Amino acid sequence: MLATNLEDEFLQKKLWRAIIETPTALKGFSLPSRLCIQPMNCYDSLNGIPSKITYERYRRFAQSGAGLIIVEQTLVGPTDERKPNNLRLTQKNSAAIKKLVDIVRNENSSCKLIFHVNMLMPCLNGKPYENIHLLTKGDISNIICHFIEAANVLYQSGADGIEIKLCHHALLMSFIEPLNERNDEYGGSLDNRLRIVEKIIIGIRQRISDEKFKIGIRLSMYNHIKGGMGTISSDSDVEDLTEPLLILEKCAKAGVELFNISMGNSVFTPKMITPAKLPDTFSLSNLESFDMFRYAGIAKKYLIKQGYPHVMIIGSGFSTCKEMLPDIMAANLLKGNMDLVGIGRQALIDCDIQHILSGNFIPCKGDTACAYISIDRYQIPVGCIHKKPYSTLLKMIQGGPVEEIDETYILLIKNSLKSTSQKTKKRLSDFIGRYNLYKEGI
Ligand SMILES: Cc1cc2nc3c(=O)[nH]c(=O)nc-3n(C[C@H](O)[C@H](O)[C@H](O)COP(=O)(O)O)c2cc1C
Ligand code: SF4
Repeated sequence: MLATNLEDEFLQKKLWRAIIETPTALKGFSLPSRLCIQPMNCYDSLNGIPSKITYERYRRFAQSGAGLIIVEQTLVGPTDERKPNNLRLTQKNSAAIKKLVDIVRNENSSCKLIFHVNMLMPCLNGKPYENIHLLTKGDISNIICHFIEAANVLYQSGADGIEIKLCHHALLMSFIEPLNERNDEYGGSLDNRLRIVEKIIIGIRQRISDEKFKIGIRLSMYNHIKGGMGTISSDSDVEDLTEPLLILEKCAKAGVELFNISMGNSVFTPKMITPAKLPDTFSLSNLESFDMFRYAGIAKKYLIKQGYPHVMIIGSGFSTCKEMLPDIMAANLLKGNMDLVGIGRQALIDCDIQHILSGNFIPCKGDTACAYISIDRYQIPVGCIHKKPYSTLLKMIQGGPVEEIDETYILLIKNSLKSTSQKTKKRLSDFIGRYNLYKEGI
């Protein structure tokens, strides 16, 4: 909090309210506030179907007063044993997806809900991530169909849109990065590398002509790896935003109306995705010293200049702001760096807009412990580890005394055993063994 006396504090809070609670709209898509909840994979969907823990989280998000909720990574395509507790989108799951949409609608009928969609493949296109075979044209056609079908299932379920995952370490990102080494029409020039994404966007629009259903993209603008997104060439890791900006423009032209700006790669540069703190040079008059805000501001200004002023930009990285969260949110909106302020980790603790706007919220510590768990080191349901039940769960798994915990967590952990490394399997099996003894009163 920056105000120095009571009167200033009162005015400051009024200002936050005026800026963050101002509604905004795209064609047929009005948002009651500028607060957005970012997608966060929490691994509590049992074999792809939301558990009661998943439903409860979205109920809480809906109650927060957020204008937009972006549902966590939702997988399409063939079932993948690596992520048994990841939310999954199939025709078979559509009733459960509809239930999730209905829960949000019932809590807050004006809040919009889009799903962050990704597909896992046993192989990626872009070397040198893994020792892999190049995707065939048949594989690529299947990927395109899966995304279009996913959008259709979402539309039928009453969701407001789809966010295509072009960030972090996603399959589609490996196509658009300079390190894509294909020599067919899906590799080489940027037009070629972007072809798969454009086909998905155009295919979704052909399938769903209702313009109220929005297409969004989450893009890592730069990920600081050789040949990664936002670099000059396939053998450089130096930042050059020429291509990410062209990608935004081409996708906007194809029909994308929401861009969620991020950075980093979850395998090679995960700390970029969930930064721990703001740079020492950061101040309210130097917002752009933080790359997340700089990239969002550059993207917004570029799209306005290219004739897409209506396209919305969502900013990321706000949990890094801690107590200064409302000030920094308002400053970014006021400066025009973005249209929506997205919170990730903070939402695992408290995302109630009234708490945030009154300054009465517990700030995220930014220690990234939850993100660390989420990127598969433990294979357990994810939440803030400084809060119950996650604090209890983690302590028990690390060998601490066993306590009573909702059986759903146990079911989820048992389910994840089929996908873990030997070391993780041993730790989790030991825990399940101790838990069973506790339940039997031994
Ligand atoms: C537990 C956890 C899971 C996440 N899962 C995803 C994901 O599935 N897709 C994605 O694009 N970002 C994911 N993120 C990144 C967040 O959406 C967000 O961009 C990041 O945490 C920075 O915002 P924050 O500072 O408000 O936390 C995840 C972050 C956390 C902490
Ligand atoms: S574990 Fe809790 S405090 Fe730490 S980064 Fe995650 S949400 Fe924030």
